[in-house]
Amino acid sequence: MPKLYLETVGCQMNVLDSELVVGSLRRQGYELAHTPEQADVILFNTCSVRQHAEDKIYSALGRLRPHKRKYPDKVIGVLGCMAQKDQELIRKRAPHVDLIVGTGQLAQLPALIRNVQETGTLQIALSLDRTAGRHEVERSFESYDPLRDPSMRPNRFQAYVRIMIGCDKFCTYCIVPSVRGPEQSRPPEHIAAEVRQLAGEGCKEVTLLGQTVNSYKYGRLRLGDLLAKIHDTPGIERIKFITNFPKDMTDDLLDAVRTLPKVCPYLHVPAQSGCDDVLRRMKRLYTVGFYNDMLARSRELVPGVAISSDFIVGFSGETEESFERTCDLVRTGGFKNSFIFKYSPRPGTKGHELYADDIPEEVKKRRNNDLLAIQNEVSLQDHRRMIGKRVEVLVEGPSKNAWKHETTGPIQLTGRTPTDHIVVFDGNPRLAGATVAVDVVEATAFTLFGDVVTGEHATRSSDGDDTAPAKALDTATRISLPIL
Ligand code: 5AD
Ligand code: SF4
Repeated sequence: MPKLYLETVGCQMNVLDSELVVGSLRRQGYELAHTPEQADVILFNTCSVRQHAEDKIYSALGRLRPHKRKYPDKVIGVLGCMAQKDQELIRKRAPHVDLIVGTGQLAQLPALIRNVQETGTLQIALSLDRTAGRHEVERSFESYDPLRDPSMRPNRFQAYVRIMIGCDKFCTYCIVPSVRGPEQSRPPEHIAAEVRQLAGEGCKEVTLLGQTVNSYKYGRLRLGDLLAKIHDTPGIERIKFITNFPKDMTDDLLDAVRTLPKVCPYLHVPAQSGCDDVLRRMKRLYTVGFYNDMLARSRELVPGVAISSDFIVGFSGETEESFERTCDLVRTGGFKNSFIFKYSPRPGTKGHELYADDIPEEVKKRRNNDLLAIQNEVSLQDHRRMIGKRVEVLVEGPSKNAWKHETTGPIQLTGRTPTDHIVVFDGNPRLAGATVAVDVVEATAFTLFGDVVTGEHATRSSDGDDTAPAKALDTATRISLPIL
């Protein structure tokens, strides 16, 4: 059997794309290899959002150069955003690459690999411009997305579902709109069919994906309507959606999140900055005041909602005072967690064209660390408030440390609450995929620790209240089934 090695960097979209690539190549008889050296076809699914992600791929490609010289029949491919953006540069810096394939052309991959193997020539498949990309990707919705491969996912019971592609927002720092093309929403019937298919394969949680997922629009149908449409799919227990654009967080959507019990009360809504001046230069289309109102509205309409955010530090012209405004927003925003990035200028964006990258690297680093420290304190407070509460956890499997200490008996498991909090507790690995009640006893800034509840109190809470105070703790016992 031919062997495939696929390395993925970047966002959840890429994780999903990789799953689809593996699905289509498995059908051609490929099996997965753990290292590039063991593989016949070596693929990198790439990201262009920050320079660092690109550098990682160029060094991985560089390391493979002697290997390719020794085994010229091996096929090396660059897929995704970097392929779409930088075909010339890839050819120059890594002339041993055989395949350059954009995000909208991944469905052609099996044929392109065959072409390389038969002709020994470089194969390139990319969108020619943003409008051409639209056509290609619309077709790919028909022929590509349904081909799922559960074995490529970390587990069978959680899956991503793409509901839209591309982005039309053109924030000035962001390369996504030019590499992923125009915003297009996928027909609701296709999405519903894919969710049904996933549920039939044992999937319990779907996360709907879009660069600005709450801008979903198909005719008159918006994201709230789509959530209602897929809500009653038998077998699906949880529905999440990422990533949201602050301006599109409508009351209708928030109402849907509150009233549909399977829709998780968790919203990822990147703020990017807490300074109006920076937001204007980023062309984010809102002010800090608007963002704060959106936070308040979300919390009012969806009681108990957890909100997380993204921030960029060191964007062009970010003064100490602007940065202080961002620190204030993180101090007061009550985010469950935030992802913090140092600004990385991207050639091809308005930000790169219009503004200098004028914040020194050491300053970016310091601001990154300072903001992280503030967010960690906020996360710790948020987590500590959950001590003593009983939460509902979808068990994902053994935790990272599970096999280090225990050899027999229960092992350390990890899972998430509907509010996306990570919970670690001891239990039988066969609980993976089950929804269990856990009493939270300890917390760090990143993790909740708890005891799994057995017996009558272990059933799912029917009112969806995952933060109900832990009653009847005396009847709760630690699970102690043998591991098989
Ligand atoms: N530099 C740094 N961070 C960026 N992001 C997007 N573009 C850049 C860039 N040029 C961040 C944003 C976005 C997240 C996915 O990546 O915070 O929300
Ligand atoms: Fe990039 Fe802005 Fe679109 Fe997000 S909304 S993908 S940050 S352009």
